[in-house]
Amino acid sequence: MAKQRHNILVLNGPNLNMLGVREPDVYGFKNLSAIALECEELASELGLAIDFRQSNDEGELVTIIQQAREGFSGLIINAAAYTHTSIAIHDALKLLDVPVIEVHLSNIYQREAFRHHSYVSPVAAGVICGFGGHGYLLALQAMRALLDDDA
Ligand code: DQA
Repeated sequence: MAKQRHNILVLNGPNLNMLGVREPDVYGFKNLSAIALECEELASELGLAIDFRQSNDEGELVTIIQQAREGFSGLIINAAAYTHTSIAIHDALKLLDVPVIEVHLSNIYQREAFRHHSYVSPVAAGVICGFGGHGYLLALQAMRALLDDDA
């Protein structure tokens, strides 16, 4: 039986537009457009359609999450630094009744203590961190499995 096609929002927070030039020892040399392209390719193999977005603005991220209540079956989010600070993003995520998967390129638990707490994790089905850009692909696969389990 053909798998149902779902729309997935892949949302990226502040400074992720600088990937490739930003601390490459931590985040690697791949830029966000390259990650988006890899996500597009895998998504189409998995029968998913993705909307890949980035914003540096906390309020805009909140608005995008609110709007995702319509038309999306899941959200993959790397809230970047707002992961560790934003109750507003936490509250917006609670509005969603679709699965949320949290992604980080770096292993946040190997880094400074202030990165060890996440306001996203309590509202996420799962967390993927430490695998660089590949983490987004793992998240897409996990999302496909979650949606199939739900069907
Ligand atoms: C990040 C980890 C955050 O602590 C940091 O502020 C980022 C990127 C990651 O993908 O590893 O901007 O979310």
